[in-house]
Amino acid sequence: MSTVKVFRLAYVDFYAKNVESMVDYYTNVMGYRMTEEKEGVSYLSNGLDHHNIVITPAKEKAVRSYGYQLDGRLSLEEVQEHLSFKGITSNIEAHSKPGISKVLKLQDPAGNTLELFTEMDQTAGGFGTSGIIPLKLGHVAFCARNFNETIQFYQNVLGFAFTDQIGAGFANFLTCNTDHHVINIVASEQTFLHHIAFQLKDASHQYESSDLLAKHGRAVLWGPSRHTAGHNIATYHYDPEKNVVELYTDMDVFIEELGIFEPRPWHEVLPQKPKVWEALSAWGTQFEVDLAKI
Ligand SMILES: [Fe+2]
Repeated sequence: MSTVKVFRLAYVDFYAKNVESMVDYYTNVMGYRMTEEKEGVSYLSNGLDHHNIVITPAKEKAVRSYGYQLDGRLSLEEVQEHLSFKGITSNIEAHSKPGISKVLKLQDPAGNTLELFTEMDQTAGGFGTSGIIPLKLGHVAFCARNFNETIQFYQNVLGFAFTDQIGAGFANFLTCNTDHHVINIVASEQTFLHHIAFQLKDASHQYESSDLLAKHGRAVLWGPSRHTAGHNIATYHYDPEKNVVELYTDMDVFIEELGIFEPRPWHEVLPQKPKVWEALSAWGTQFEVDLAKI
């Protein structure tokens, strides 16, 4: 019998106070392409998908929803049945967003709104031609109330696997594919986005992106540094609404069948297995800005 299995984070839908500056940032700095604007909501793509970033006007900044794609072995109606068996309420909505004909909407135990879908329209426009142009939207980190329950939810309901942890209850890293993490959950009293992360091609793309950020007056808040959990080389900066944005490369590749990460020369031990880390940076780089307190 098939189980519910999410396999990628497809989009993040932001509530934004200043839509114009967010769209300007995602097009001119990040190199995304606007595919559609409908009822004041902007849809931006990084290559093939109808959208990977959505900007919705609002009075306060927040995340409106996270869009996850399901493997399609179960219809949305069957997924809904599985969820309801586990006591989780969800709604199927038709055409609530352009580019996706049907989504299954629900809340995780932290209170985030999730939109699960099996198919999204593809666009012909391709990648942007100027700006950073990341390879993809890679992961989100969010502070979560109901921390343990939320971790259980992603593992037991949506099919995520545990990959790493930092500290006793600080951060848990979970994946739904071969990337070290697709979500990073941080224990908190309140639920909010900690950062959104985009994958770059390589180290030269990493420093090129810092040059470009500097040109647009966006300071790098931390990094580049190699993380312990995930081993990604990362920098962080703010978007115009002060959401923290991570740009990274070199993230660990998880081989779920073996329960290890693909060996890399910079790994501390071989085989590198999921574990609890104490430090955040493999290089000892200190944060000058406490990203957990933004
Ligand atoms: Fe991250």
